[in-house]
Amino acid sequence: MKNICSLLPLEYPLIQAGMVWVSGGKLAAASANAGILGVIGAGSMRPDLLEEHIHKAKKFTRHPERLAVNVPLLYEKTKEQLELSLNLGIRTFITSAGSPKTYTSWLKGEGAKVIHVVSSPEFALKSEAAGCDAIIAEGFEAGGHNGREEITTLTLIPQVVDSVRIPVIAAGGIGDGRAIAAVMCLGAQGAQLGTRFVATIESSAHSNFKQAVINSNSTSTMLAMKKYVPVRLYKNKFFEDVKRLEDHGATKEELEKLLGHGRARKGMLEGDMTEGEIEIGQIAGLIKDIPSVEALVKRLIQEQRQSLPSGYFF
Ligand SMILES: Cc1cc2nc3c(=O)[nH]c(=O)nc-3n(C[C@H](O)[C@H](O)[C@H](O)COP(=O)(O)O)c2cc1C
Repeated sequence: MKNICSLLPLEYPLIQAGMVWVSGGKLAAASANAGILGVIGAGSMRPDLLEEHIHKAKKFTRHPERLAVNVPLLYEKTKEQLELSLNLGIRTFITSAGSPKTYTSWLKGEGAKVIHVVSSPEFALKSEAAGCDAIIAEGFEAGGHNGREEITTLTLIPQVVDSVRIPVIAAGGIGDGRAIAAVMCLGAQGAQLGTRFVATIESSAHSNFKQAVINSNSTSTMLAMKKYVPVRLYKNKFFEDVKRLEDHGATKEELEKLLGHGRARKGMLEGDMTEGEIEIGQIAGLIKDIPSVEALVKRLIQEQRQSLPSGYFF
């Protein structure tokens, strides 16, 4: 069974997702130590803060080669974030929310591996044409920003696998080893997990946010801001405010105004579960504990093995 361990220096073909306000140097280092790709989420970081987190991750891991940076391609500091990461020795990038054409060939020329996040087979083909080494195909069950197409992981993965020749990594709604086994049966060569890693000891999510994850059920999240930037949110007061505005036909500017005031930081990092924006995936309903990353990865591998015939084991 082919998996992304032949592309990246990993023990297991799993990725701890890049997540704004959640995946800093501490979480990435713990993931790298546990044998998987540890991703620093640069989306919420100014270049100086990103530099701090890369140094922290390198200090706390025995495996700096398993560190990566996720750079959403929609911010003005994108080029600076990428250059800084290259200068600090990062050679794996997960790019998202933008065109893979812009930076992929330059990054590859610098000796880096580039994995782009897509939400449809059409975007997967564009990423392959742009020279990406692999793609992450993310279904709309996922936490955080989502594709407008609303394609679920179960239907997305086989369609993407049949469209491209580069490795496909599945994301969206994967919370335990059974789901990892399932996406591998669909042809994925690895899995990226976000929501599951929010509720770990090493994540920088506020403890109120972690607690909300373990108190969630299957209906605790919903896709919001479809007309602006679709994002799956925890259903708190902030979500209700967004929804009310949307139902009244709010303009992009009105929604932007509500989102201002650092709502994402307020919710996910500072733990304001009423007024803050909380990004989280549908699989939160399955999560009932806050383990260390090491214990979680061991459990995921064991569950995956119990769910598959031996030829499919990692
Ligand atoms: C709190 C949170 C923040 C996220 N931030 C980002 C981000 O900055 N960039 C990105 O590409 N994806 C982001 N995502 C999506 C994850 O990288 C990942 O693909 C997704 O969480 C996978 O689905 P799951 O949540 O069902 O595991 C975020 C997800 C969560 C839950």
